[in-house]
Order: sequence, then C-alpha cells, then structure tokens
Amino acid sequence: MNTDNKGIEDTLQKKYDKIERVPPKGYDCANDFFEDVFNDKEMIWMGQNTNHLHDDTIAKAMANCVMTKEYCKYPPPEGFSDLKQLILDDLGLENQEVFLTAGATESLHICMNGLLNKSDNVITCDPGYLIIGTFAERFADEVKYVPIYSEENNYKLTPELVRENMDENTKMIILIDPLNPLGTAYTEEEIKEFAEIAIENDIYLLHDITYKDFARQHFVAAKYAPKNTITIYSFSKIFGMAGLRIGAVISTPEINEVLKNVVVNDLGVNIVAQYGAMAGLKSKDQWIGEIRETSFSNQKLIKEMIDGIDGVFLPVYPSDGNMMVIDLSGVGISPKKMSEYLLDKKIFTREGEYTSRLVGDKYLRISFSIPEEGIKKFCEEFPKAVEALKK
Ligand SMILES: Cc1ncc(COP(=O)(O)O)c(C=O)c1O
Repeated sequence: MNTDNKGIEDTLQKKYDKIERVPPKGYDCANDFFEDVFNDKEMIWMGQNTNHLHDDTIAKAMANCVMTKEYCKYPPPEGFSDLKQLILDDLGLENQEVFLTAGATESLHICMNGLLNKSDNVITCDPGYLIIGTFAERFADEVKYVPIYSEENNYKLTPELVRENMDENTKMIILIDPLNPLGTAYTEEEIKEFAEIAIENDIYLLHDITYKDFARQHFVAAKYAPKNTITIYSFSKIFGMAGLRIGAVISTPEINEVLKNVVVNDLGVNIVAQYGAMAGLKSKDQWIGEIRETSFSNQKLIKEMIDGIDGVFLPVYPSDGNMMVIDLSGVGISPKKMSEYLLDKKIFTREGEYTSRLVGDKYLRISFSIPEEGIKKFCEEFPKAVEALKK
C-alpha cells in the first residue's frame, strides 16, 4: 500500500465553478423545491420555456416504441439516419452533418469541450442562457458577457457589439436566437453580418436555435457561413419533448469528427425520444400553425394586461420565443418576491437571476406556450400581485 497517497478528503475539490442556486424558503436544495413544484398537478407551468400545447401524435409514436419493446436494444450510436435527414430538411441544409445528443445542453457542452482551448475567449450576452457561458468557462480562458439589456441595442447582441468586444484571442461568438429570456431574434441582414464576422476572422459562430420555430421569421446562419457555424438544435421546445432529453449539433463533417471525439453518451440517445422526434418532424406541418397561434394570442393577452399597470413594462414585444420578460424595476418589486407570491397562487415563474447576473434583479421571466386558461389566471393574479408587493 502506498502510504504517500493522499486520501479522498485531501483531494476532493470542485473542478469547475458553477452558479450556486439559493434554494427557495423552506427548502434545503433547489432540486427538492423543483420536485415539489413538478409534482403539483395544479401548478401553471410558466417557469420553464416548455411547450404544453401538443396533441397525441408524438406521444403515440413513443408509446408504440415502448409497447413493441424496441427500447431493449441500443440505438445506432450517432442517431437514426432518417432522423438526421429530417433535421437537415427542417433546417434546409445540405452538406452538413447531424450529431444527435441528449438535448441541446449536451450539444453545448460537447462544443465547448471539443473546440475551445485555454488561450481562447468567447463572446456571449447577458441576459442569456447562462449555462452556455458556464460550459465555455470550463475550457476557454475568458467568457465575455456583453450587457445587452437596453433599448439602444434592441435588447440583443448586435454585430457592432460583437466587433467592439472581439480581440485576437476570440474563438467563438455565441448567438442565442431567439434569445432566452427576452425573445429577441435576428434579421437576415444581422445573421449575414455575423456570418461575415465569423468568416473574416476564421472563428466559430455557435448558433443556438432552440426556439427558432416560435419566431415570426428565422434565418439559419449555417446557410451563410457553413464552414464556421455550429447549429444547436433542441426537441424540448416547439416539439414539447423537454423531459425526453433529445437534441443535436449540426456542423461540417470535419467539425463533427472533433465533437464525436469528446462524446460521453457513446451508446446513443434515448430510443423512445428518437421515435418521438421522427414523428414530430414528419407531422410538423399538421400542428405547428396552431401552436404558434396559441402562443402569439397568449402573449397578446399578457401584453394587454401589462399595458394597464403603471411602472411595469415588457422590454420586448412581441417576443419571438415562447417566453418574455416583465420589467418590475419601476415598481420596486423584487422578482424573487414576485415569483414567491405567484407560486402561492400556483403559478410557477422564474426570477431574472436565472438568466442574468447583471440585471436579474429587474425582471420576471414567464413562458406562455401553455393552454389559455393558465394565461388568464396569470393575467388575473399578476395585477393583484403588483398591488400587494409594490413599494
Ligand atoms: C437557449 C437554450 N439552449 C438550450 C436549452 C436546453 O435545451 P435542451 O432541453 O434541448 O437541453 C435551453 C433551455 O431552456 C435554452 O434556453
């Protein structure tokens, strides 16, 4: 036995920094809180950008996979070819390769691990989907969180802001489009300009299009900079499959070879989810119109309600995602207090700190791809909450 070896206690340490979540009142950890909220069947689900508007088409395809016990076998490790082709068709891309993952989250981690080095920096924005930056921090030297919460830049990371923040070590631009939490999206001109920046500087453009199908218009950067773009795709939002954990990375075969080398889940992605995803893509034309319409009419109801309250406003309307931000700073209400108040009324929402380190104390994020009756209850309760909490 080697007595010089240090033991577990001496060597145990966290390898990476991660944002620590303060558990809500009465809970030891955030997971216990979440489990309680999850198990409460009356809870109105506006705290995650999930989609609760689907019929049974996807569910039936998955049920069939379960009943035929297809799940006893491992699936092909990089995904069914049919599914990969359906994803390319959905994006209108050719000469690109799809690599299936357990959700956009895994796609993001694989990209940061595979493509970033300790001398690189990365540009992203605040507010934004913070785990992307957290993953990048593990592998790059620096992540620049460009502040974008202002009318001046239309609440988004503009090409000008990217240029201002770039230097010789910039290796990747991260575009979340539409942006969680604000719901801002990019015009074709802007996407072309980002593509030009990536090509000119020979760097990666990571285009997270998780919410693309909620947008009024959406443009895929890979069409303009196919060799530089890595597209991050999710089945959690428009397909309503968040709990199934399935997504993809789409890029050039050369980049994908590098990504495959850092894979963790090398026995393939959940087979039930793959069947659901194929059914979802094949039937998309049948259901997408109705889901988009309900989402738009829901956000209109919220807008009308918010317009009637002094001091509260929607920085971005309409949102091109299935979520939006309500700014509470004018009435001096802390988003945490607001979300606790609403939780008591069985409405689950998210305080700003989940998506911003810089301005998280200003806003509440709500998502609205849920049945209209939930939105109506929210519209009834929110004005009462403002009256009860304002200073
Ligand atoms: C911008 C963005 N990317 C990725 C994800 C995670 O997607 P998935 O459920 O496919 O892992 C989210 C989830 O909210 C998101 O907002």
